[in-house]
Amino acid sequence: MSTSAPMPTGGSSGTLYGGSSGRRVTVRDIAAAKQRGERWPMLTAYDALTAKVFDDAGIPVMLVGDSAAMVVYGYDSTVPVTMDELVPLTAAVVRATSRAMIVADLPFGAYQAGPAQALDSAARFMKESRAHAIKLEGGHRTAPQVEALVNAGIPVMAHIGLTPQSVNVLGGFRVQGRSEEAAARLVDDAKELEHAGAFSVVLECVPSEVAERITASLSIPTIGIGAGPQCDAQVLVWQDMAGLTPRTAKFVKKYADLNTVIGDAAKAYAEDVVNGTFPGPEHEYH
Ligand code: KIV
Repeated sequence: MSTSAPMPTGGSSGTLYGGSSGRRVTVRDIAAAKQRGERWPMLTAYDALTAKVFDDAGIPVMLVGDSAAMVVYGYDSTVPVTMDELVPLTAAVVRATSRAMIVADLPFGAYQAGPAQALDSAARFMKESRAHAIKLEGGHRTAPQVEALVNAGIPVMAHIGLTPQSVNVLGGFRVQGRSEEAAARLVDDAKELEHAGAFSVVLECVPSEVAERITASLSIPTIGIGAGPQCDAQVLVWQDMAGLTPRTAKFVKKYADLNTVIGDAAKAYAEDVVNGTFPGPEHEYH
């Protein structure tokens, strides 16, 4: 990350990024940020050390995304990842943080069967990982699941536009909502999800103009990823943001080049071992 990035101020600024410390960010804080017109950052996290770095950096909301399928488990899409694989990652991120709201992502197959299945899966995340909110993908068709979770006391982050779990129906990872009809459907979906009780909605890979329309028509925040600058918040997969992922989408900005940094470190270590210069005297026990 850039060393010139501003550090969170801490204390009582009342803002989401760099706001008051000593307690977790809540859905009320997020609603208040929308009222103030405050933009805020969200990142994914999948392990304790990285989550702690982001918590200390003041990132107010972290998502343990089903993108773990690809960046942690090495699958070629998010479809194969399971609850059993995501629950321990989410628990680690919750344990390592003290300020951020941690959102757990329901994987493919854990909620599509209906509200009862969604509630079972979400309850497992809340109990076993202690996540603070749940995210699930889909518009009109998952509104009943959103309503069931919210009625059970579980905050829900919705996700529309490019929904990677449906990549096989969408015919690839492509921008959604390009035609007026498709854009109107996204606006309707977003309103229905808000009505069902979602506290926020991720907009993935939609034209900026459509994201702006949705953002203006909702009282809950929109969180953009490839959805332009008018969203209330932005999210990136952290490995994309930090330049660890070798190839990324157009919407990603790399704030570091971790791929090169870690690769160079591995090569320097390997050469020291081969040359016999590591371990040095300062690394020895006598
Ligand atoms: O799984 C994930 O990381 C996500 C974000 C990209 C929004 O769904």
